[in-house]
Amino acid sequence: MSWDFRKPGTRICVCYDVTNQQALDLWRESDNPTVGRLTQLFDCGKSCAMCIPYFETLLREFKRGEWPAGETGTQDTSWFGAKHA
Ligand code: FES
Repeated sequence: MSWDFRKPGTRICVCYDVTNQQALDLWRESDNPTVGRLTQLFDCGKSCAMCIPYFETLLREFKRGEWPAGETGTQDTSWFGAKHA
């Protein structure tokens, strides 16, 4: 199965174990959702920062009402093909 960063519950930040669901919950509660606030709360992006472009894409799509769509509720914990317990 391929890694799908849009699938709800998918781990986006492997360094700090932050999922897109955590981002979604935060952004839904915020009047001004940002990736910076996500970083402040969960530290994602403070190490390798490879997760930031994914969070930025999700936020852009969230603001346009394009994400999430077709929620499956199935958690995908893979990261670039690597599986985590
Ligand atoms: S994957 Fe998020 S800081 Fe490394």
